[in-house]
Amino acid sequence: MEITDRIKQLKKSKDAVIMAHYYVPGEVQAVADYIGDSYYLSKVAETLRERVIVFCGVSFMGESAKFLSPDKKVLMPDLCADCPMAHMADKETIQKMRDTYDDLAVVCYINSTAELKQYADVCVTSANAVKIVKALPQKYIFFIPDRNLARYVAGQVPEKTFVYNEGFCPVHEEIRLEEVLEEKERHPEALILAHPECRKEVLERSDFVGSTSEILRYASKSGSREFIVCTEEGVSYRLLRDNPEKTFYFPKTAPVCADMKLNTLEKLLHVLEYEDNEVHVPEALQRGAVKPLKKMLELAK
Ligand code: 13P
Ligand code: SF4
Repeated sequence: MEITDRIKQLKKSKDAVIMAHYYVPGEVQAVADYIGDSYYLSKVAETLRERVIVFCGVSFMGESAKFLSPDKKVLMPDLCADCPMAHMADKETIQKMRDTYDDLAVVCYINSTAELKQYADVCVTSANAVKIVKALPQKYIFFIPDRNLARYVAGQVPEKTFVYNEGFCPVHEEIRLEEVLEEKERHPEALILAHPECRKEVLERSDFVGSTSEILRYASKSGSREFIVCTEEGVSYRLLRDNPEKTFYFPKTAPVCADMKLNTLEKLLHVLEYEDNEVHVPEALQRGAVKPLKKMLELAK
């Protein structure tokens, strides 16, 4: 029997649902029930009825699904799939900022560890960060961990004063403006679409900036036929599936998140079969981290 057929069969018999981020390999996205950006996936996680959730993504995503659906068994194809940026802040600096500014909100990108989330006032994703920061009553925003997303949001919300943290996504940080412009020279008609985790100079040169879902939506609706895509190359699976008549180019050094690619079909089959690789988070940590996540879902409505 084909591996995908076996996965489908087990999904039914185990009362399981498969969730996947757009950066995991295309063949894994093809067997998923829900594919999306971090905001969509967390919204869905809260509403699921199945007994088991298999989350194909990185640790902070599996953990968020567990926090929002604590009675479910959450499994991940590879528990080593982690986001390096999720660790790029610390509680000492958060405390220092709280001591320095009276009117401060600690805004935590969902790409962060549960440990960091518990010290935050609210979580955000790239799809809802602008809306949520605008809605906060505080004047000062300490945005962790991503400095690139923070600068992008600060530009959209000039009424707030941002304090930056020096975290970044190594995959998006690697996308160099020179390589983007090389593609633009080769394909002058192509529009440049970028994820806000990219460097400032790339965002400034882009025609559209948005989360992975927003990039997909923009490419589908746009009258243009060619695009230079500045985000992880996994999005090409969906871009091509939804827009077979359009062409998508990536910078020469194609951005690949090695952690997302740890999610293979074979590992997915294995966890479905044996129900191992369960996500466990100590209860106290879970209680602390779920608060800013729930606040995000409430403010983003
Ligand atoms: P979104 O899919 O929420 O835009 O996030 C991108 C990302 O880097 C996830 O790791
Ligand atoms: Fe983390 Fe970047 Fe990979 Fe997303 S693409 S999981 S932010 S390292």
